[in-house]
Amino acid sequence: MNDTIRDEAQVPDYDLPPLLQLADGSPVRDAATWRGQRRPQLLTLLAQQVYGQTPLQGIPLHVETLESVKLSGGVERRQLRLLLDGAHALQLLLWLPRQRLAPVFLGLNFNGNHSTHPDTAILTPPGNEAVRGSNAGRWPVEGILARGYGLATLHCGDLFPDRVDGRADSVQRLFEAPVDEGSAWWAVATWAWGLSRALDALLETGDCGPVALIGHSRLGKTALWAAARDERFALAISNNSGCAGAALSRRRFGETVAAINTRFPHWFCRNFHAYNDREDALPLDQHMLLALIAPRPLYVASATEDLWADPRGEFLATLAASPVWQVLGHEGLPVREQPAPDTPVAGRVGYHLRSGGHDVSAWDWERYLDFADSQLR
Ligand code: GCU
Repeated sequence: MNDTIRDEAQVPDYDLPPLLQLADGSPVRDAATWRGQRRPQLLTLLAQQVYGQTPLQGIPLHVETLESVKLSGGVERRQLRLLLDGAHALQLLLWLPRQRLAPVFLGLNFNGNHSTHPDTAILTPPGNEAVRGSNAGRWPVEGILARGYGLATLHCGDLFPDRVDGRADSVQRLFEAPVDEGSAWWAVATWAWGLSRALDALLETGDCGPVALIGHSRLGKTALWAAARDERFALAISNNSGCAGAALSRRRFGETVAAINTRFPHWFCRNFHAYNDREDALPLDQHMLLALIAPRPLYVASATEDLWADPRGEFLATLAASPVWQVLGHEGLPVREQPAPDTPVAGRVGYHLRSGGHDVSAWDWERYLDFADSQLR
C-alpha cells in the first residue's frame, strides 16, 4: 500500500459524475424528479456497481425478549433475540432512557454486544468473555441516556462474519442463491439489511421514537448504505467511513478501490472489483450515496490523522451531495470550505474534522447528540 496518496498535491484531476442530472442528461430541478426518477436510478446504480443487490425475498422475523431490567434513573435495558426464519438468531441490546418514545441511536458493533459495555449481565457467546467492555470507549451509554436518547446495538458478525469465507455462515444462507454473481450482495449489504431488521424489531417494541443510524469505519459505510436504502431511518451518522463510505473514490487519497477490494474481497459486489485502479470509469461516486439520505439529516465526521479514510474526500463528497437537500427545500451543508479541526458545522447536513485518529470519541458523540437535538427534537 506504499503507493497510496497521502499528499493533497498528488490527488489527480477528476470530474465527478453529475448528481442532479438524469441518465438521459436532463436536469433534476425539483423534488418530484429527484424522488421519482433520479433517486431510484442512483439506488440501482450503487447496488449494481458497489454494494450488491439486496434480495427482495422477505424473511419472517420473530422477536423474543431475553432480558428486560429497570436500572437506576428510570433507564431500562433489554436484550432481544431476533429469530430469522426460525433458523438464524441475532441479538439486539437496547438501552432506553427515562423519557418515553425517545429517539434511539442504532449501530452495529465489531466484537459483540458485550464489547460495548462492561456489565456482566450482557449476554456473550460462549468463550468470548475476554472482549467484554473492550470497545466501551466508543459507546458512552450512560452519557447518551443522560441526554435523553436510547441506544441499540448488534454484532455485525451475527449477520455476516467479517471474513473472506464468512458468506457460508452468514444470514445469506436463508436466501435463495443470487442469480447474477457480479451484482450479488456481500458483507456490507448484508450488514445493512440486518440494520433494517433491527429497526423492524425496535418498531415492534412500541417504545422507541425516531431511529438514527450510526456507524464507524466499515460499519459507517454500512450505515450509509442502510440509510440510503431504508427511508425509515430518521438520521444517519458516518464516523470515519472512508473509502466506499463518505470519501470520494476518484481522489484515490488514502485507501483506494483496489486496496479495499484486495484486502476485503468479501465486502462489496464483484462488479466493484472491475474498478480497481480505474476509478474514473465508475459511473458514480460517493456523493451519490450521501445524497440518497436527503432530505433526512446527515452528519459526516472525519479525523485529522485518519488519512487512510481521506478526511478531505469525505468533506468534498458531503459538499457535493448537499445541493440535493436544497432541491428538497432544506439547508444543506452551511459552508463551502472544509472547516478547521474541532469546529463542527451543521445545517440539515453536518460535518466535523476531529483532531486525532481513526476512532469514535466522546467528543464525536457530543456532536452527534447536539445534531440530533437540533434535527429530531
Ligand atoms: C480498514 C479498511 C477501512 C475500514 C477500516 C475499519 O482500515 O481499510 O476501509 O474502514 O478497516 O473498518 O476499521
